[in-house]
Order: sequence, then structure tokens, then C-alpha cells
Amino acid sequence: MKKLYFGSNLKMYKNRKETVLYLQELAELTKDISREELHLFIIPSYTSLEGAAEETDRSLIQIGAQNMCWEDQGQFTGEISPLMLKEMNLDLVMIGHSERRHVFRETDVEENKKVQAALKHGFRTLLCIGETAEEKEYGISREVLRKQLIVGFHNVSPAYAKNIWVAYEPVWSIGVNGTPASPDYAEEMHKVIKECLYELFGESGNEIPVLYGGSVNPGNANELITKESVDGLFVGRAAWNAKKFNALIRDVRKSYNNQE
Ligand code: 13P
Repeated sequence: MKKLYFGSNLKMYKNRKETVLYLQELAELTKDISREELHLFIIPSYTSLEGAAEETDRSLIQIGAQNMCWEDQGQFTGEISPLMLKEMNLDLVMIGHSERRHVFRETDVEENKKVQAALKHGFRTLLCIGETAEEKEYGISREVLRKQLIVGFHNVSPAYAKNIWVAYEPVWSIGVNGTPASPDYAEEMHKVIKECLYELFGESGNEIPVLYGGSVNPGNANELITKESVDGLFVGRAAWNAKKFNALIRDVRKSYNNQE
């Protein structure tokens, strides 16, 4: 069976104690699933990161940060540097989540600086991309995704491709007011993304996993994973209860196995 990727971004939910308990429960519930077939990662808030990193069995669940500054140190009040994240021995860093881009107005150029810094410091880097509802309406989703990838990975050598993951999260699909992308639409966009990664990185671009995120739930997860270009699911709300996330992971794996 192909390795499937499952991750959750905890956003600004769960304090340190809740995060650690959630991670321990999720590790316990999923520990019988071979990690040859499952890549599981959780991205907690900054204040929970240290506890999460120290108290989680990292062979079962990888831990990542939600954001990172591109500079090692300096006059950047409120930012967290790669060196500070390195102290916590994290597995990955997420860059360019939709809420960073649209609530906090981060640009593609800034995401590129962060991607470069994260890769230089040895982090696995998860770049999130996605078009807005308006961009979709104007029929420019492909162009927007390509721009986010081309600028986001500007000056990144193919040698780093093995440390790169991409999440496709259309802005209109995320959160309580989001409408999930149909599995066919997600597949279409994942194809565009994979083609662009090949253009950017050559053969090693083919190895970059592309995850779908945005209102993933037990009703759409099974069909999404059967799509050829969907390598995994990046889940918000439907993953924040360990039992429910475990059930979703198992169901999705079953659907995937059944179609193989
Ligand atoms: P939801 O699954 O809650 O829509 O959130 C998706 C997301 O933003 C993951 O990063």
C-alpha cells in the first residue's frame, strides 16, 4: 500500500495540556497502523509546541510549527526564528497557510523567504497554497496556484525536493463557512500542482506529496483519497478529537485499500 499522509493543523485551539493529551490519545489509538503506510503529523500552536515535541512518540506522530520568520534573529517583534524552532527539535514547519496569507496579509515573496530559510535549516517544509473564491470565479485558479508555487519555490534547488510537501487548500473551502472542494475539482487542481512541481524540480518534483485540505470530513474523505493525485489529507475541525480523527484515518485507509 502507498504511504498516505494525514495531518492536522490545530490553529489557535487547544492549550498545552489539551494538546499533549490529544497527541497521546492519537498516538495510542493509531499505534497499530504501520508507519510504512501512514505518515501522521500534527501542527500545534506555538505555546504548546515544546510540550508536544517532548511528550509525543515521534516515531508515531511528527510535530510541526504553524509559521516561522525567515531571519535567524533581529528586530522582528512577535516572530519566531528557525533557530528557536530548532531548539525544540521539530519535524516540520508549515508556511503560507491560508489564514497567514489572508488574515495576516503575507505575500508569496515572504512565503518564499520562509521556505528558503526553513529548508536551509533542515526542516521539512509544508507549503500551503490555494485560490480564493473570487479567483476561482474569474477562472484563474490554475494561474494562481502556479504563481504561488513558482514564487514560493523561487531559487529552491531540486536537491531540497525530498524535504518539501505541498498542501492544496482552496481558501473558499476552509473553516466553518467553507464548502469542501469536490473530489474531481481537487484532483484537477492537484494535477496542475504536480505538473508545476515537475517543471520546477524535474524528476524529484514527482516525489513531493500533495495533500488536500479544506473541510475534509468523514463524508468526503474516502472519495478524496481515491483520486490519483491526492497523496493525503490535511484536516482541521474533523481531526481535533483524537477518536474521530483515528476513525477517519482508518476509514480512508480502508477505501484506499479497497480500490487498489
Ligand atoms: P478545516 O478542515 O477546518 O476546514 O480546516 C482546514 C485547514 O485549514 C487545515 O490547515
